[in-house]
Amino acid sequence: MSAFITPTPVHGSGLDLVSRIGELKKRHDAIILAHNYQIGEVQDVADFVGDSLELSRHAAATDHPVIVFCGVHFMAETAKVLSPGKTVLVPDLHAGCPMSDMISPEEVRRLRSLHPGAVVVTYVNSSAAVKAESDICCTSANAVRIVESIPAHQKIIFLPDQYLGDFVQRKTGRSLILYSGFCPTHVRIMASDIFRERKAHPDALVIAHPECPAPVAECADVVASTSRMAREVLASDKTEVIVGTELGMIHRLSRENPGKTFIPACQSCDCANMKVNSLEKILWALEDMAPEITLSPDVIAGARKALDRMLEIS
Ligand code: 13P
Ligand code: SF4
Repeated sequence: MSAFITPTPVHGSGLDLVSRIGELKKRHDAIILAHNYQIGEVQDVADFVGDSLELSRHAAATDHPVIVFCGVHFMAETAKVLSPGKTVLVPDLHAGCPMSDMISPEEVRRLRSLHPGAVVVTYVNSSAAVKAESDICCTSANAVRIVESIPAHQKIIFLPDQYLGDFVQRKTGRSLILYSGFCPTHVRIMASDIFRERKAHPDALVIAHPECPAPVAECADVVASTSRMAREVLASDKTEVIVGTELGMIHRLSRENPGKTFIPACQSCDCANMKVNSLEKILWALEDMAPEITLSPDVIAGARKALDRMLEIS
């Protein structure tokens, strides 16, 4: 006799799943938001696919009472903070972000006590509790603008991504107090990967995310948020593109640019957390109306201030 338990049957074929998700979406008046790194079929079933800033704006503006957020945990928390009266469902509660886990609220308080009077600028890749301890948030799309909006005489603590912070320092000429956080996915891309692919594809456009370390960002043609990368690729007449970011990005780029070839700079630039969501889990979330993001009113109020300041500026 087999020692294995027969798994729960999956809910049907891809097409079947999509139509059942559609029915439940209608029944609950739900909207599906997905990040640019989600697996292809999740992007394809979503009502909107975008970067962190665009997803925050959508979450804040939507009239739908239910948001199914396909991304990682901090992004769904941001949706809840910006739309606290709505039900924010996540297909898989385990979709975390290791960079976000590198900083805690206690650590923010410790840094503030070390640098009294400094403005705390926190990348949205952080928990809602960390945002609640911060003065203003930023995303990869607006980090330069946010830092430029702070008077030159004020000290700035930039959390938690040391590479995005370093990128902002080089763009603005400001000196920031940086933290040691990083994205374990983007640090896998080496400058030598870019050199190798440029040699093989000398006419290609090279795009990279500002979470990449400086030697990679410095040799890219475009360093930008995921959605700005998509816009730059669409606008470019280059037919080959070397992609210096998470591999999921290639699905959207290929869909929007059927005549172009996309070359990953690094085959292991794969964020496992972004990949745990699936059509089955979206369906189950809509069937069960769970897992749901819940946050305390204090955390919502604190994080909201830092996010609202960001949204006013960007
Ligand atoms: P974007 O805001 O540029 O989409 O980036 C989010 C992210 O987690 C990158 O690793
Ligand atoms: Fe976090 Fe990096 Fe994954 Fe983005 S790619 S969610 S920063 S681990």
